[in-house]
Amino acid sequence: MKSNYTFTIIKPGAVSNEHIGPILAMINKAGFHITAMKLIRLSVRQAQVFYEVHKDRPFYGELVEFMTSGPVVVAILEKANAVEEYRKLIGATDPSKAEDGTIRKMFAESIQKNAVHGSDSDENAKQEMNFFFARTERFNRDGSCCVMEY
Ligand code: CMP
Repeated sequence: MKSNYTFTIIKPGAVSNEHIGPILAMINKAGFHITAMKLIRLSVRQAQVFYEVHKDRPFYGELVEFMTSGPVVVAILEKANAVEEYRKLIGATDPSKAEDGTIRKMFAESIQKNAVHGSDSDENAKQEMNFFFARTERFNRDGSCCVMEY
């Protein structure tokens, strides 16, 4: 049974270019419900830990630098089969390969400044949600607080 929840980050470039509103509108229009959300600036340590799986990749240092260069929006999204559905909506990591109508095709500047992050598996989604959101910051579909774990 696939999880109904995924995690996203609207990255610094998309935030500074005033794309938060249009991106959230696409998310809602695609049928996702936002159950948790905040605007924060990542510390270097937070970005390093979040992207630890990429620590041996040549782009890791630059990725951490970019992700800490300004505020980001972090959010938890709810929809049936959320991880896969959201990855379809955002499109390929490399925006030159992203399909028309996807968030990255519309708002990404480059593979690094690719507008948004989306979890790639239910297991990672859970880890990423837990990394950023306390139980008191997670809401049920009916608006009630507080969710221990999605
Ligand atoms: P994201 O979905 O946040 O997950 C890891 C990020 O690493 C990815 O989006 C890209 O922004 C970045 N990334 C992946 N591959 C490359 C690459 N070849 N060069 C630069 N950045 C990359």
